[in-house]
Amino acid sequence: MKERQMEGKIREVHIQRKMTVPAAVAGRFGLEAAERARAFHASFPEYAETPLVSLKNLAEKLNVSGIYVKDESCRFGLNAFKVLGGSYAIGRYCAKRLGLDISEMTYERLTDKKIRTDLGELTFVTATDGNHGRGVAWTAKRLGQKSVVYLPKGSSEERLANISSLGADACITGLNYDDSVRLAREKGRQNGWIVIQDTSWEGYERIPGWIMEGYTTMAYEAYQQLNGIKPTHIFLQAGVGAMAGAVTGFFADVYGDENRPHITIVEPERADCLFRTAWASDGKLHAVKGSLDTIMAGLACGEPCALAWDILCQYADCFISMPDKIAADGMRILGNPLGNDKRVISGESGAAALGFAAEVLRKGYGKNLKEKLGLDENSIILCFSTEGDTDKARYREIVWDGKYSDI
Ligand SMILES: Cc1ncc(COP(=O)(O)O)c(C=O)c1O
Repeated sequence: MKERQMEGKIREVHIQRKMTVPAAVAGRFGLEAAERARAFHASFPEYAETPLVSLKNLAEKLNVSGIYVKDESCRFGLNAFKVLGGSYAIGRYCAKRLGLDISEMTYERLTDKKIRTDLGELTFVTATDGNHGRGVAWTAKRLGQKSVVYLPKGSSEERLANISSLGADACITGLNYDDSVRLAREKGRQNGWIVIQDTSWEGYERIPGWIMEGYTTMAYEAYQQLNGIKPTHIFLQAGVGAMAGAVTGFFADVYGDENRPHITIVEPERADCLFRTAWASDGKLHAVKGSLDTIMAGLACGEPCALAWDILCQYADCFISMPDKIAADGMRILGNPLGNDKRVISGESGAAALGFAAEVLRKGYGKNLKEKLGLDENSIILCFSTEGDTDKARYREIVWDGKYSDI
């Protein structure tokens, strides 16, 4: 009851830390790792840097110095950043199996008939809200391999169809995201399939670590595109936190502990496992159980990624739990730009962080949240619109009809 009474409000945890943390923690996802991942992705025929959009008019309106949004809707024609992780983990897995270094494992080599014969028939299995599974299915198909994908209860038919059309054996389970992950894990064990999961647990860290390294391509591109402009604030949306952990690790490594931007992690209020973990601050991971109802399908995860938390607990400055309306507002703001700002089509999960930043800048919010975050006219904000309209019908319902609270 108490929980429900809190719904519809922004909740915040600010981390005060003075310690200097070992660079090695972030270094795993730093510049060098990102250059390796980017070189791998750049070998794909459809590779192109996604745009970093400067929303000058929005920045002026909201009285900050700059707002930059990385638009992942064009990533590999898959409408979301997620393929970066799945493809890189599969690349690394195959390289390891063949005794090769990832630097030798280009797209051309990976799709070579001889490599396919050497690898034999493989099946990759995963659970997904949609975007990750699509990336795994896409990569498996390119390699002439099989994939099995489980979507949680309530996933849209459109997301299922996007995965099935890539040749995956995909289905919507009657389970939430975290239990679908357990199902994928169990099926993998029973059938000798390779689990390519975008979250870690005890004893399963190598593949999620590779997935996170794969995400650093996105951060690396943004860093290059900023061309010397240093963001003062980065806002990142999180499901299990792997994307946020990788991007945070990258920027912590690049700018160093003293100089790094202020980093805020945002989550849906009904799936705010990282917020709860930060709130409890007892050295344990805290889960959210149940159906995890939120329009932010990609963020509807109840159990934090342990590997990501290792990074976030050291480098993230603020954790936010927020209602769906803020993500919906983010979709509308990005889709209806001011003046000659470029339009960004951003899905429910993709728009969450920008939606939050805009909310705070527009309304100050609560007890001086804007001041607590250190936002002022000199601030330069970086966000990642991690998906486009990956569920087109839902996008219209939210943006046109304002339908988002009756989930
Ligand atoms: C579009 C989108 N953005 C962000 C995320 C969050 O990523 P993570 O689960 O690594 O926190 C996801 C996860 O599926 C996603 O699909």
